[in-house]
Amino acid sequence: TYVVTENCIKCKYTDCVEVCPVDCFREGPNFLVIDPDECIDCTLCVPECPVGAIFSEDEIPEEQRDFIALNAELARAWPVILEKKDPPADAAQWDGVKGKRDQLEK
Ligand code: SF4
Ligand code: F3S
Repeated sequence: TYVVTENCIKCKYTDCVEVCPVDCFREGPNFLVIDPDECIDCTLCVPECPVGAIFSEDEIPEEQRDFIALNAELARAWPVILEKKDPPADAAQWDGVKGKRDQLEK
């Protein structure tokens, strides 16, 4: 399973959703998650993310491991997103900012 991690928060470029063959991205207010029950490990979404937010759960950085459970939890609550949309106007300035998990809107 692949997992969306912290750097997606407030960047939310949505390029990832266009390539997923099984439509497993789910959309929240300022973050996306992957439904772990749907992901087929195709890896196509990984290079699409401009901010490198998507990892295999086997290779996820240690300090991001809590995002595995968070993706599973939020995927049950959030709707499917199938098409790319414009990112937030200030997306670029949030790339790489530490501690963004406090900004996650559910
Ligand atoms: Fe979709 Fe493939 Fe990414 Fe899984 S790895 S979320 S199936 S594009
Ligand atoms: Fe987020 Fe990257 Fe997709 S910023 S919305 S995981 S393209």
